[in-house]
Amino acid sequence: MARAIAARFDLMELPADFYDDPYPYYDALRSHEPIKRFADGSYFLTRYEDLIRVYRDTKTFSSDKSKEFGRKFGDSPLRDHHTSSLVFRDPPVHTRLRRLIGGALTPRHVAAMETGLVALVERLLDSIAGRETIDLIDDFAGAIPVEIIGNLLRVPHEDRGPLRGWSLAILGALEPSLGMEAAARGNAAVSDMLEYLRGLIAERRRHLGDPETDVLSRLILGDGGDERLDAKDLLHNCIFILNAGHETTTNLIGNALVSLVAWPCARRILLRTPEAIESAVEEFLRFESSNQLGNRITTRPVRFGEVEMPPETRIWLCIGAANRDPLKFPDPDRLDVLRSPNRHLAFGSGPHQCVGLTLGRLEARVAISRFLQRFPGYELAAPATRGGRVRFRGYLHVPCRPRADRRPGWIGENSDGGSRS
Ligand code: HEM
Repeated sequence: MARAIAARFDLMELPADFYDDPYPYYDALRSHEPIKRFADGSYFLTRYEDLIRVYRDTKTFSSDKSKEFGRKFGDSPLRDHHTSSLVFRDPPVHTRLRRLIGGALTPRHVAAMETGLVALVERLLDSIAGRETIDLIDDFAGAIPVEIIGNLLRVPHEDRGPLRGWSLAILGALEPSLGMEAAARGNAAVSDMLEYLRGLIAERRRHLGDPETDVLSRLILGDGGDERLDAKDLLHNCIFILNAGHETTTNLIGNALVSLVAWPCARRILLRTPEAIESAVEEFLRFESSNQLGNRITTRPVRFGEVEMPPETRIWLCIGAANRDPLKFPDPDRLDVLRSPNRHLAFGSGPHQCVGLTLGRLEARVAISRFLQRFPGYELAAPATRGGRVRFRGYLHVPCRPRADRRPGWIGENSDGGSRS
């Protein structure tokens, strides 16, 4: 059965139940065809060790997508955007861009954002309190990153409305199979965002902010040397930053709060020992990784066991599968909020590892723990609606009753940390 599932697996034609629960498919692939070849000659990797190898060896496994996206997007705003953002570039451009962006997202900078983040989360919780039902995504998880990333680039509050929609449309175009409508939405979003950012950048050039904390001013000024980003790199990397920390973080918070409904023991542990939130966030990242797929392309011949790949072979890195690899994570399908060690790949690894990981973790810790404190008895009011994507795993809508009462027995009870009961 599992062998047949692995043999039939085709990323371009996924069965309807895949979106709800892709893990049995990933498990079948990891067990029977861990280096799965697709009809178009690309390979789909599902083992933890194989992903690590690819992430670390950037000379053999390039992130440059110029050829691939030229074919996928044609001459279009989406092509311009996705071939300019740092995640799809190699050194030396990648190194320079990463230094500029990363310099404003160090642990010290992120720690300085905590007070504002807590105030934002508390404001959202106040607005939820007293309501019979809410949408966990629209009213909570989706409302946090937009403000945090907006602050990072100092986007005026009144301009932030369209950011989430743009982000969904642009990153949605990275799905393995792209329909005409989704492509049109993505292209329109890039064009709209470019137009908006041209104005914002012109204004910022006139009134530069402190490059220590204002990422846009950092990108405009460069890193002190003669080299500055050209206009295209500047614009498209602003778009990338606004998008990168957006849907991923929303999904992390949303996935976590939905998981805690399915795993009440994990919720009990967090209510009883709030400090467990740190390991819990790592487990949410592993268990339902909000970014499930990465891509690389080979620059030279390479061999994985029996499989030989020529140069220019496209590779899919399945983070969602690697994070459930039993050789790395004992009992991988169990949500264990106390799991240790937990060296998941939710943020990737190596030179392209997520620049925003400290910020993403902080947002998740504050949002999840404070939501739980205020609404320990929250429950789903209706089935949640999935985002329906392969690469970015999350929910579009989660109808929820934010109950403030604690159910009897939830505090002070022994629990094994990972049972669904
Ligand atoms: C919590 C949720 C997040 C997850 C799961 C996540 C995941 C990832 C992953 C897997 C990569 C690596 C892509 C690759 O190597 O192919 C990445 C890169 C990146 N992320 Fe995140 N991310 C999150 C939040 C953020 C935030 C909050 C920001 C910024 C504000 C951010 C900015 C970036 C940037 C700039 C890169 C490109 C790094 C590079 O190519 O050197 N991310 N992210």
